[in-house]
Amino acid sequence: MSKLFISCALPYANGPCHLGHLRSTYIPADIYARYNRMIGNDVCMVCATDEHGTPIAVKADNEKIKPIEVAKRYHDMIVRDINSCNISFDNFTRTTDKKHYEIAQNFFLNLYKKGLIYKKDILQLYCDNCGKFLPDRYVEGICPVCGADARGDHCEVCGRHLEPTELKEPTCLTCGHTPVIKDTYQYFFKLSEFEDTLKEYIANNDSLPANVKNYASNWIKEGLNDWVLTRDMDWGIPVPLEEAKGKVIYVWGEAFLGYISSAAQWADKKDVKWEDYWNEKVIHFIGKDIIYHHAIFWPALLSGYGCKLPDTVYAGEFLSLEGQKMSTSKNWVVWIDDFVKEFDANLLRYYLTVNAPLNKDTDFSWDDFQRRVNDGLADVIGNFLHRTFTFTHKFFDGKVPEYANPSSEDLEFEEEIKKLPDTVAAYIEDLEFRDGLLEIFRVAKVGNKYFNDQEPWKAVKEDMQKAANCLYLSNQLTKTLAFCLKPYIPTKVDSIAKILNIDNLDDWNEAKVILEPGYEINKVKPLFKKIEDDIIQKEKDKLQATLSEKEEDTMSELISIDEFGKVDLRIGQIKEAEKIEKSDKLLKLQVDLGEKTVQIVAGLAKDYEVDELIDRKVVVVANLKPAKLFGTKSEGMILATSDNCALLAPDEKGQVGEQIQ
Ligand code: 2FM
Ligand code: ZN
Repeated sequence: MSKLFISCALPYANGPCHLGHLRSTYIPADIYARYNRMIGNDVCMVCATDEHGTPIAVKADNEKIKPIEVAKRYHDMIVRDINSCNISFDNFTRTTDKKHYEIAQNFFLNLYKKGLIYKKDILQLYCDNCGKFLPDRYVEGICPVCGADARGDHCEVCGRHLEPTELKEPTCLTCGHTPVIKDTYQYFFKLSEFEDTLKEYIANNDSLPANVKNYASNWIKEGLNDWVLTRDMDWGIPVPLEEAKGKVIYVWGEAFLGYISSAAQWADKKDVKWEDYWNEKVIHFIGKDIIYHHAIFWPALLSGYGCKLPDTVYAGEFLSLEGQKMSTSKNWVVWIDDFVKEFDANLLRYYLTVNAPLNKDTDFSWDDFQRRVNDGLADVIGNFLHRTFTFTHKFFDGKVPEYANPSSEDLEFEEEIKKLPDTVAAYIEDLEFRDGLLEIFRVAKVGNKYFNDQEPWKAVKEDMQKAANCLYLSNQLTKTLAFCLKPYIPTKVDSIAKILNIDNLDDWNEAKVILEPGYEINKVKPLFKKIEDDIIQKEKDKLQATLSEKEEDTMSELISIDEFGKVDLRIGQIKEAEKIEKSDKLLKLQVDLGEKTVQIVAGLAKDYEVDELIDRKVVVVANLKPAKLFGTKSEGMILATSDNCALLAPDEKGQVGEQIQ
């Protein structure tokens, strides 16, 4: 039995869980943890909410409550969401727990005493209007490296960690003023000293996946600067030095320690040592946006402290939603809590695993979700289980029949069944979760074909042993499927186990133990239902509606004349209009803008007939970034009022293509 330390990136306690969190981190980690427990390994899987940092403080300021209240609210929601998806953490704590403060402060002191953390005078952004320094996400601007819009400490586009003073065109997030640069001092971590250690760690660690290695080695090539590890803020873990009043440890300087504090809290309760798990094998599951932190900062901090470095950092790539980047601020997300109100969480675990390998960006689309569930879970797995169980009841009194004189087809199928647990195990051990699932589906398809070919419904009349062999083997496969699917869709397969009269699916080795002839199974219940079109349409409409709501909200915020000037409004004329299949709201329009004709997807279908729109002059936002709505490209937006959907139009003087100022 080996010990295994598994962690998931700590979610910020400033919002509930959405699909992205689950896909990149929690589901893969849970598959891995559940499998390892099943093969008898001693697993410690931990996580916590990341509760410090500026977004939480900013939210609290806005709501005029304390940051801890914001954190508690979201901690509770996140725990609810994680539980609803059956993510089997051994411990899920908070970075505001006492134990975490102790561990983080001791860690800081340890590095400080070794001279790896030092004090230095620096310049920082200061907002005269608000009367405070602007750490991290209190400031917005432009990334100095790639030119994208960035928040103080991080550029989401190029993935780099930033110092707020490096930002171009910085503005104070609270009041919109341009901050000034002012003298202060902070504590720095000697990251530059760890360049060689990190190079060695990244180059010689075969367990690090390619995406992590590539990003990290490129960053190291650019050279590493020492890292500012403290902030002037009230919200955070106080720097444990007398001289450093008013300074807190930067959230990224202590969040990693949430892995350890969560494990330590768990270990105390169980009277074991978290170090025993860490020293044997550590695997961190993270999203790709924080590779920098886990491949650079964290191993450097750990080296400084004198701790073993993580064996693997597994980074899931991005998930978009209906072809567009997910955005919590624009509500372009599917919240887990909403999802599980309508669907079984196992479906989500299945879909997010089967959809694409984790090391590839992919998209969540409701149509694809429906297709995968209906064609995969229902048609392949559900169908195989259902026909096996019903036939066993109908022709063999609910008992596994005798197996005798197997044909070559029987033997071939038997071989497939026997090999399946080992093949799936090998994939899961290599963190190839999708391939493991695909293999399960492949064999279930083989099962369906075998069942069709054997035609047991005919064989019962003509060749009873043939029918018996078919049902004997099919029952063996149902059992093997239940075990192999357990890490993926844990609570769903419990219902299969119930039919199979199996108490639990806790031991992977049991997957290979056969059901003896005469073994009795229980009554069949429907296991996987197909998802109807109208249910999916409702979800698509909901998503579309939240997007429109957000558009209304942003209209009421104040913007500068320069910002308004960025919008290229033009008079357009609708030349063609057609309905978008499966949407009762959306129309695909071809709109003449004078110089060119663009395609626009607009939510006008409920208020206008297609014919009424042809040749109408409308006002168009002509410089919107193209996007895909329900799979259809849209290159602009047509202006209409929000409640009655009244189209805005110029008076008769307005010419097609003319700019509106
Ligand atoms: O990026 C994030 O969501 C961070 N809250 C992740 C922290 S992971 C670790 F360091 F604890
Ligand atoms: Zn300000």
